[in-house]
Amino acid sequence: EKPLLSQCYNLMDFESVAKNVMKKTAWGYYSSAADDEITLRENHEAFHRIWFRPKVLVNVKSVDFSTTMLGTKVNMPFYVTATALGKLGHPEGEVVLTRAAHKHNVVQMIPTLASCSFDEIVDARRGDQVQWLQLYVNADRAITERIVRHAEARGCKGLFITVDAPQLGRREKDMRSKFVDQGSNVQDGHETDTSQGAARAISSFIDPSLSWDDIPWFRSITKMPIVLKGVQRVEDVIKAVECGVQGVVLSNHGGRQLEFARSGVEILAETMPVLRSMGLENKIEVFIDGGVRRATDILKALCLGAKGVGIGRPFLYAMSAYGFDGVDRAMQLLRDELEMGMRLIGCTSVDQLNPSLVDTRNLGSH
Ligand code: FNR
Repeated sequence: EKPLLSQCYNLMDFESVAKNVMKKTAWGYYSSAADDEITLRENHEAFHRIWFRPKVLVNVKSVDFSTTMLGTKVNMPFYVTATALGKLGHPEGEVVLTRAAHKHNVVQMIPTLASCSFDEIVDARRGDQVQWLQLYVNADRAITERIVRHAEARGCKGLFITVDAPQLGRREKDMRSKFVDQGSNVQDGHETDTSQGAARAISSFIDPSLSWDDIPWFRSITKMPIVLKGVQRVEDVIKAVECGVQGVVLSNHGGRQLEFARSGVEILAETMPVLRSMGLENKIEVFIDGGVRRATDILKALCLGAKGVGIGRPFLYAMSAYGFDGVDRAMQLLRDELEMGMRLIGCTSVDQLNPSLVDTRNLGSH
C-alpha cells in the first residue's frame, strides 16, 4: 500500500515510496550509478561533513530566498536538472516537471534524451516560464546545430553542454534489468542495443571527440548563455572562464559517470577561493548538483559561493510515485525547509549567505 502523499515529509521519503511502486527497469535506470556507487554515496556524505556557523539575534521575521540564475529571476535557489527518460516513471513524462516548475517559479532543464519531444516540453510552458536545454553533442554536428538553433528559436534561455559523458558510465543495476526502449528522442539512425541497460541503449550517438576547441563553435551558433555541465576541477573552471562561457555545473552526473569523482560541493569548496584570489568570481556563474536533498544542502552550497543547485532524482521519484502532486509537494517541502533554514542561520536574503556561515574543516584539505 502506498502511503498518502501527506505522509511524505522530506525528499528521501519519495525515494522509498518510489522504490516500492516503480517498475523494476525504471527504478534500475533512475537509481543506478557507476560501479560500486561510491561517488553516489559520497554526494550525500560530503554535505554531512559541512556544519553551520549561524548568526543569532538577527531580525529574521521575513526571509526571501529568491535569486537569479543566468539572468532569470527564480523563487528558490534550485532548478530541475536534466534527467533522461521521464516516461519510465510517469506516462506523461517531463511535462509533469514543467508544470511543477511553473507553479514554483523555478527553471527546468530539458534533457536531450527526454521521453517527451522537445517541442512538447516547450509547449507545456506557461507564461514567462524559463527553460534551459541540456545538450549531448552528436558526432554529426549538423544535428547538434539544428537542435541548438531550434532550442534558441523556441525560447530556451541557457545551453548546458554535458562534458562528463564522452562515454556512458557502467551502471550495473541498470544493465541487469531488461530495458525495453519506450521511445526517447534517440538520434537519427542509431540502432538501440538494449542488452546493456537503458543508458547505453540511448546514448551511442554522443561524440567522444568533443573538446575545448569546439566551444567557440557553440558560441558562434547561439546567443544563449553557455554552461559546461560536469566540470570537476578548478583548473577546468578557469579554462571555462577563459573560453568565455557563462557558467559551469560542478557535478559528477549523480554518480553515474566516473566512479571516485568528487562531489560537486567538495569541488565548489576547492574552486571558489581560487576564483576569488584571481578576481574571477564574478566572471562566471557556478552551479552544483548531486545529492541535494535538504534545504540545508542548498544553503551550504550557496554559502560556499554557488549561484544555485540542480536536483535530479528526488523529482523523478516524486513524479513516479504521485505525479504532479508529488513534485509539487517536494518543491513545497523544500520551500518550507528553506524558510526555516534561512531563519536559523540568521539570514534574510541569499546575498547574505557567505563562507563565514559554514565550517568546512571536516570537508577535506581545502
Ligand atoms: C541524469 N543526469 C543526466 N545528465 C545529463 O546531462 N543528461 C542526461 O540525460 C541525464 N540523465 C539522467 C538520468 C537520470 C535517471 C539521473 C538520475 C541523472 C544527471 C543529472 O543531470 C544530475 O547531474 C544528477 O541527477 C544530480 O544528482 P541527484 O540530484 O540525482 O543526486
